[in-house]
Amino acid sequence: ISLLPYNTFGIDKKAKYFVQVTDESEVKEAIKVAQDLSIPLIVLGGGSNILLTQDLKALLVKIEIKGVKLLKEDEDHVWVEVGAGENWHSFVMHCIEKNWSGVENLSLIPGTVGASPMQNIGAYGIEIKEVFESLSAVNRHTLETEIFDWESCEFGYRESVFKGKLKDKYIITKVCFKLSKNPIFHTDYGAIKQTLNENGIQELSIKAISDAVIQIRQSKLPDPKQIGNAGSFFKNPTISLSDYEILKKEFPEIPGYPNDEGIKIPAAWLIEQTGWKGKTFENIGVHKNQPLVLVNYGGGDGNALKKLSEEIQESVKKKFGILLFPEVNFL
Ligand code: EPU
Repeated sequence: ISLLPYNTFGIDKKAKYFVQVTDESEVKEAIKVAQDLSIPLIVLGGGSNILLTQDLKALLVKIEIKGVKLLKEDEDHVWVEVGAGENWHSFVMHCIEKNWSGVENLSLIPGTVGASPMQNIGAYGIEIKEVFESLSAVNRHTLETEIFDWESCEFGYRESVFKGKLKDKYIITKVCFKLSKNPIFHTDYGAIKQTLNENGIQELSIKAISDAVIQIRQSKLPDPKQIGNAGSFFKNPTISLSDYEILKKEFPEIPGYPNDEGIKIPAAWLIEQTGWKGKTFENIGVHKNQPLVLVNYGGGDGNALKKLSEEIQESVKKKFGILLFPEVNFL
């Protein structure tokens, strides 16, 4: 079947076999089918973080496990279990309706709930690991369901154990979040502060923050429904303080944000400085407002996008000596 409707980049490649699963037993069935056919099984969430470069001789499993269940609550918190196939943004909107705080800064992130811990999604000063409690996942080898707590997920910047040593070993079926009834507002991110100001917000609320985030994202990031894209194509690289100081001498304007491992440099800045921002090549290109996002204007080819990304990597490497790593998964 054509995967065109199943990837936000809008790439027209095919999968040999395709199945939608709505519960855990169907997940296990699908694993058995792939084993019987001796073909790889590829899990598909919202298809918002992949770049298809070829037809796939595989079984594509689209996770459609639904449901939002309040597991327990105390005075300050709720514990909510969410099906992996729920749309992430719909879940965020549900939380705002219920006045559960913790995910409002993560409004409008494309993709599904099941994919969110996979790469520890983050935006505007918050990462999913801050509200994550546990998850259920099917072991693709034993077909047993296992529970992963916070520690065992080994979260990092856009990373988890499921992208590392347990890559392709588990299928996430449910995620449990711990959210606050008494909101703690995260408004440190410059753009949020500014937008709240512009909106004349006197009294903060999770709705006001969500609205601000939606406004910022809509002004900067292309809507995948209109222009094919997978959000940030690269991760923001972290370099050592000493390397940063050397670069700063040559490029006094270079932005940098200290983190645990050194100084994080906005990849968007590096790409802009190498002249790629807004560049278009036939039907693909580098977005005009956010150069970290590569776009497919329609009919674009996955390999052409891959090649473009490699050319960008090369320019950045040449000018700054920094290697950009893709955030998008190539299939
Ligand atoms: N910048 C430029 N030129 C531009 C745009 C940005 O130089 O045209 C520089 C500026 O220095 C700016 C900095 O980049 O201050 C940061 O830009 P922005 O706030 O847009 O964030 P980002 O670091 O580029 C990250 C995430 C986004 C997330 C935003 C907001 C990664 C790889 N990306 O982007 O996540 O929405 O922060 O928190 O960490 C995604 O993962 O798909 C995604 C969109």
